Amino acid sequence: MNKPLKVLIACEYSGAVRDAFTALGHDATSCDLLPTETPGQHYQGDVCDILDGGWDMVIAFPPCTDICVSGAKHFAAKRADGRQQAGVDFFMLFANCQAPRVAIENPIGIMSSQWRKPDQIINPFQFGHEARKPTCLWLKNLPKLTPTKIVSQGEFHVTKGGNKLPKWYNLPPSKDRWKIRSATFKGIAEAMAQQWSAFVLSSQTNFQNANAAENLGAKSTKSTMLTAPASAHTTLKMKGINWSMREEPSTAYEQANNEDFC
Ligand SMILES: C[S@@+](CC[C@H](N)C(=O)[O-])C[C@H]1O[C@@H](n2cnc3c(N)ncnc32)[C@H](O)[C@@H]1O
Repeated sequence: MNKPLKVLIACEYSGAVRDAFTALGHDATSCDLLPTETPGQHYQGDVCDILDGGWDMVIAFPPCTDICVSGAKHFAAKRADGRQQAGVDFFMLFANCQAPRVAIENPIGIMSSQWRKPDQIINPFQFGHEARKPTCLWLKNLPKLTPTKIVSQGEFHVTKGGNKLPKWYNLPPSKDRWKIRSATFKGIAEAMAQQWSAFVLSSQTNFQNANAAENLGAKSTKSTMLTAPASAHTTLKMKGINWSMREEPSTAYEQANNEDFC
């Protein structure tokens, strides 16, 4: 394997994505105010302490409570007392962080209008879990995830109020309900680790090969757009680091925007 990637999984207590990267030999650290639920490299504390720590990649799962559509009925109060702005500011810490590659995950919410629309909306049923949970990804210098195993969307439950909720999500109130609902599905965690690490390592190899060719006096490669692996469906300009990889979001975003669960 090439040099292991140094990856920060921000706002992760479950260890799901960290463990998926670690299993591939990478140097992955999760960070949360809470302790980690599975043994592994974990920083328990404020992510601001370590965010600019020279990471090759940051994958962030910021809290959605005050910025996602499921809390819309409380938006007026949350705007008035500053909670919503605090949620937006926290999300934007990751959008503006120094890491060359960043993914931010959140349910459908106000960031699509406060900042920009997500690059992709994924669901667990595209990654081997019979569950529906539209999940937005904002990607900086990373490709969209390719579904790994499409299965049924699972069962639904209609609430007294007429809302159609996935059965897995419709749990009785409990201390840990939010944790069950917010933990990253294993199939998605594995897809992130496999696809994004393969993409970065292959981009680095292409870049080294291009430089080697240039050093050998081959035709200049200075403005070459390097092609990502076939699975990545995108191209990456190696010397420019920005959020410009976004393609126009599909209409799936507008369709999913009506969902009322977080
Ligand atoms: C929506 S949950 C994400 C859970 C994640 N998908 C997982 O599998 O563990 C958001 C997490 O952000 C954490 N969090 C909130 N503020 C934080 C901060 N300043 N630094 C680190 N973690 C923080 C919360 O404790 C919570 O566990």
